[in-house]
Amino acid sequence: MKNTSLSIIILAAGKGKRMQSQTPKVLHKICGREMLYFSIKEALKLSDDVSIVVGFEAKKIQAKMKEYFDNNIVFLEQDLKNYPGTGGALKNYHPKYQKVLVLNGDMPLIQSEDLEKFVSIQSDIIMSVLDSPNTYGYGRVVINNEEVLEIIEEKDASAEILNLSTLNGGIYCFSKSILEDYLPKLQNNNAQKEYYLTDVISLAKKDSKKITPIYGKIENFKGVNDKLDLAKAEEILGNRIKEYWLKKGVRMNLINTIYIEDSVTFEGECVIENGVSIYGDSKIINSHIKAHSIIESSIIENSDIGPLAHLRPQSILKKTHIGNFVEIKKSTLSGVKAGHLSYIGDSEIDIGTNIGAGFITCNYDGRDKHLTKIGKNVFIGSDTQVVSPICIEDNCIIGAGSTVRKDIKEGELFLTRGEEVRKKGFFYDFFKKKSIE
Ligand code: UD1
Ligand code: CA
Repeated sequence: MKNTSLSIIILAAGKGKRMQSQTPKVLHKICGREMLYFSIKEALKLSDDVSIVVGFEAKKIQAKMKEYFDNNIVFLEQDLKNYPGTGGALKNYHPKYQKVLVLNGDMPLIQSEDLEKFVSIQSDIIMSVLDSPNTYGYGRVVINNEEVLEIIEEKDASAEILNLSTLNGGIYCFSKSILEDYLPKLQNNNAQKEYYLTDVISLAKKDSKKITPIYGKIENFKGVNDKLDLAKAEEILGNRIKEYWLKKGVRMNLINTIYIEDSVTFEGECVIENGVSIYGDSKIINSHIKAHSIIESSIIENSDIGPLAHLRPQSILKKTHIGNFVEIKKSTLSGVKAGHLSYIGDSEIDIGTNIGAGFITCNYDGRDKHLTKIGKNVFIGSDTQVVSPICIEDNCIIGAGSTVRKDIKEGELFLTRGEEVRKKGFFYDFFKKKSIE
């Protein structure tokens, strides 16, 4: 439920050097969506005052997030040159409410239920702590008698501090006045020459403020700094997505070999076999997707697909059977059978039509893409090409091995074959041999 007296700010201004990429870190995707999308989505469940600090590639990040969230979020720009660091990120922030939740933008696995806990406790500062042997990349938290004393960044830590397994998870709940009092006091005399938000903790502690740790699970609080973290985060999110759909009644074989993006949806009884990948805003309804098929942003209803089929974006299939090595792109097929080895692009194909092996729509002339329209009950023989734009009306038969270059009218037989040639013993004459040795 929305807690209307909470402000949330998400830090997303850094480049993310450890990603070794020109793309800003928070725009790297897991399960089909940019990392930052996930934490904003969770934050909006709790607050009507959600701000995002941007800096590196600020415009790109704003444009992308506006596609998802319209004007429900506010962007602030950080002066990265003069005030770098997670403390610098909050410099010109003016929260609407007295309670402020700060979270790093590279925590795509966090859930609103985790965030709610920070708001429910009375303390001057509440901060997230992970207790994990996988310490790499995290600041170490010094805790005594359930109270936090300070956070020391990995790059500034002594060997003794590095041994601590209490890690800073990167989420804090402050009162507005604590931020106003301590942010101006931050200094950048550390290994990275940055203004660390984490130093607010030790400054507040010196003034006897109460700082309470909340212990979180690494699967939810994981920070993503490099491509290894990204891969691990994608695995965790991918499992969540699959578990969600399994509980909703989707059957999956060998779930560890299946990849399903966050925006995919299922309805009715569906079976997904091993090695299947389903991307984008695909919608699968009462269908069976057989092993090693790839489905991209397509709608599949009452159909069976694969094994080893490839549906590219904007394919819409109803009551259709698609077999192995069939590629379909931007096509609508209803009540169609295409069992083997075909390319069907920019097409509309109607009920009862049977497509033989090796059928190809020649939809591209080197400059433009053209449409293919095939009516009802058409029988297309194997190894047939149709050169689009083209229209094949209902109830036609096309003989195997034909190249169709002009429309075919209702009820017609069409075939293009050269006259059959046979010459007895031609092989032996040609090679000047009597028989094969
Ligand atoms: C930070 C914490 C560390 C903690 C870890 C948890 C600090 C100083 N360190 O380290 O204690 O264990 O998170 O994951 O806070 N950002 C800005 N502006 C900047 C720098 C960073 O907005 O000038 C943003 C980044 O885009 C990122 C987030 O802040 O989303 C965290 O920055 P990052 O560089 O990943 O911090 P860590 O080194 O992981
Ligand atoms: Ca980080």
